[in-house]
Amino acid sequence: MPVYIKNETSGRHALTVDKLKLSADYILQRCGHNESELSILLVSDLAMQELNRQYRNINKPTNVLSFPMQEGKSLPNGVLLGDIVISLDTADSEARQKRIPPRLYCNKLLIHGILHLLGLDHERSTQEESNMQKKAEMLYNDLIQNERRPGMTHLAINVDHVATLRQARGIDEPDPVLAAGICELAGAAGIVVHLREDRRHIQDRDVLLLRQTVKTKLNLEMGATEEIIDIALGLKPDMITLVPEKRAELTTEGGLDVAGQITKLTKVISQMQQEDIPVSLFIDPDFEQVQASLDVGATFVEIHTGRYCDAENEKTMDHEFELIAAAADKAYGLGLRVYAGHGLNYLTTARIAALDAIEELSIGHAVMARAIMVGLDQAVREMLSIVQSAG
Ligand code: PXP
Repeated sequence: MPVYIKNETSGRHALTVDKLKLSADYILQRCGHNESELSILLVSDLAMQELNRQYRNINKPTNVLSFPMQEGKSLPNGVLLGDIVISLDTADSEARQKRIPPRLYCNKLLIHGILHLLGLDHERSTQEESNMQKKAEMLYNDLIQNERRPGMTHLAINVDHVATLRQARGIDEPDPVLAAGICELAGAAGIVVHLREDRRHIQDRDVLLLRQTVKTKLNLEMGATEEIIDIALGLKPDMITLVPEKRAELTTEGGLDVAGQITKLTKVISQMQQEDIPVSLFIDPDFEQVQASLDVGATFVEIHTGRYCDAENEKTMDHEFELIAAAADKAYGLGLRVYAGHGLNYLTTARIAALDAIEELSIGHAVMARAIMVGLDQAVREMLSIVQSAG
């Protein structure tokens, strides 16, 4: 089923694109066009305005345009349907106004565009408008219900503690930048580092070099302080994860109180979005925090698994696991992308990786502790095999 997507917004919104292709595959299948061909072009407002002017004589951008290759309403499967153009700038700002995650809003625009290519036109009559609206709603609801994470759960490796060991001697090894490369070669889907205000492990030099060398995805964990926000805006990592940060803590202790900092976090997230940096919020498995994360405009949440990992008995562990599972489902159902992490080790990871809503795990300490004994490559591969056979 050939769906071609071209993103002409110079690599921006990269995280939305893969999902959009899966959505297009699903919608075409539901419309009986699994063999048909479709091209999707993602553009900026500037390019959209030019197309709108050229083809519709309207000199302003719009959210979506369809260019059908066929005429008529009962097209056979296996035809060339045509092109859909979506302006990601307009999609983003409309999504923000409607308080829908941009990824989901793009799905709505995609459905609208596909229905036009299939011959429906809301401008023809009120009857057709209502038909098209009903069909679009049905497809959208089906898509959300049936959307499955593509492939297996991903494993991102946090290399902070390579830097912890380096800083213990104040010299230049071991190097977290080299470690990140080894993790990627062993199959990690991303590298995570926490640039703390006190620079106790990762240093500014590390994040600069990692930005240039990480080939998978660089996720910068950070507190929402002015200094670190400025660094992130300049560095442009592939995403950031906002965490609460206290100077005296040994490691991040609890999730962010998103509900208690709506104004501040909305501002930080919108600053990041202006630079196309998706934001994840590290939260406890708590419905109120999940809802607040959606309200402030986060793209991801990372559910804190610490209490589950630290549980002193099986009953508490089961209880904490249920909280994580419920929070992950709730977040996923709202359209947030869901990661999890903190404290996961070679025994506690499989159960979390098996949760359908969770897309990626962020693991550091356990892998580094094992790496000292068996080598980093092997430690990552062993964790990866746990994650992949569970998820
Ligand atoms: N996720 C977040 C938000 C964290 O702060 C940390 C610790 O830096 C981790 C994941 C990884 O935790 P651990 O090192 O215990 O695997």
